[in-house]
Amino acid sequence: MPEADKEGKNYFLDTPITTEGFFLKGSNSLDWGMKNRLSRIFNPKTGRTVMLAVDHGYFQGPTTGLERIDVTIIPLMPYADTLMLTRGILRSTIPPTYGGGIVIRASGGPSILRDLSNEQLAVDIEDALRMNVAAMAVQVFIGGEFETQSVHNMTRLVDVGTRYGMPVLAVTAVGKDMVRDARYFRLACRICAELGAHYVKTYYLEEGFDTVAASCPVPLVMAGGKKIPELDALTMSYKAIQEGAAGVDMGRNIFQSAAPRAMIKAVRGVVHDNLKPREAYQLFLELKQQEAKSSKRKAVAKK
Ligand code: R5P
Repeated sequence: MPEADKEGKNYFLDTPITTEGFFLKGSNSLDWGMKNRLSRIFNPKTGRTVMLAVDHGYFQGPTTGLERIDVTIIPLMPYADTLMLTRGILRSTIPPTYGGGIVIRASGGPSILRDLSNEQLAVDIEDALRMNVAAMAVQVFIGGEFETQSVHNMTRLVDVGTRYGMPVLAVTAVGKDMVRDARYFRLACRICAELGAHYVKTYYLEEGFDTVAASCPVPLVMAGGKKIPELDALTMSYKAIQEGAAGVDMGRNIFQSAAPRAMIKAVRGVVHDNLKPREAYQLFLELKQQEAKSSKRKAVAKK
């Protein structure tokens, strides 16, 4: 039995105990574990995140740039706040020493050969906890053929996530023939938030993105979409952040860039340091040039 210590005397009676609000919108009433996990995704200093999305293989196989995740993505990991991927890639390829947040793709089923909205849940909460992930991501197809089923996937994840302190990211998916306008995204994002998603991923829009962000009571992250020129992708990220997004969840515009490491650093500049698009693009060009020089030097040294 250890000897009992003396009772303490220093109660700091002049210092009131602070009651801090949580830094993410709409998240103050969540439980400690949930907030702790969200703080692994969003940087508490800036309130924003750079998520690197590499989960494309779950419905379309080895996408360009993701043929060998060990070769192309692992070098980018130190610059991502969060990785979004499948459990197959996590376990087979990602070193468990990775310290950033993991958002696990938790819905799936159909491939690009079928109707993509016909998804089911694809990861159990027990496995998500075993992998120590920071959130579970589920696709929601508002207006899609299997709309109700996909919403139900999300609400089931929210129920089980709430039980265990696991946030749920709702990803608003758009069918090929659907109109991508502010009215649609206000509807889709709001439904996800109303039904319990802890944060929502959606596309940027030139017209009305600010109203999509404002009418969504939880954080919104901007989806990257198809590869576009680097300056355009940085401009889109900048506008989304300035119009209310709490970060980006970007895949192809980073890993399909001519210089992925330079690109992710430039995206970080926009998200965390409020760099203007031209400043971030300049940073991208400089880093790209430095990388080219250093690979030339390495190639010469090898000979
Ligand atoms: C989107 O529905 C999936 O989660 C994608 O696999 C991925 O997140 C998309 O990333 P990006 O469009 O930026 O390549």
